[in-house]
Amino acid sequence: MATVLVLHGPNLNLLGRREPGIYGRTTLAEIDRRLEALARERGHALLSFQSNAEHALIERVHAAPEEQVGFILINPGGLTHTSVALRDALAAVAIPFIEVHLSNVHAREPFRRRSFFSDLAVGVICGLGPLGYELALRAALERLEGPRLEGPRLEAPPPERDGP
Ligand code: DQA
Repeated sequence: MATVLVLHGPNLNLLGRREPGIYGRTTLAEIDRRLEALARERGHALLSFQSNAEHALIERVHAAPEEQVGFILINPGGLTHTSVALRDALAAVAIPFIEVHLSNVHAREPFRRRSFFSDLAVGVICGLGPLGYELALRAALERLEGPRLEGPRLEAPPPERDGP
């Protein structure tokens, strides 16, 4: 059994009523419930934490190794574009993470295109709303569970070559 930590940054506690044209009507509690159910179905544990305070998120990252967290999903909210300190915390604990954004940050104001996290992340998902979190969790679990003995191959076989 693995433990995944989901971190939600500033203002994401307002999901459901915050700029619904951009972020939709799903609440953070609904997102967390769905993720918890998905993790449970696969025999894993999910912890989630939201804060509007940068230091609280940093401290939660620092605590993650002691809690045997094997993977982090993070939507840093506005801290995505500003926080060297939260980036450094993730680098310090060296727990693999996926960066998630509900909106397509590349189709909005230019300042949202810069992320302090993307180059350290295993992957980045944006623009898919709450589904993005679910896809990120599935990807995290695939990694944590390691290669399967049965089931479809995730990677395509090498192309066949004709002749030299
Ligand atoms: C966000 C995008 C950020 O630019 C913004 O500051 C947020 C939410 C998203 O999920 O789309 O708070 O991370």
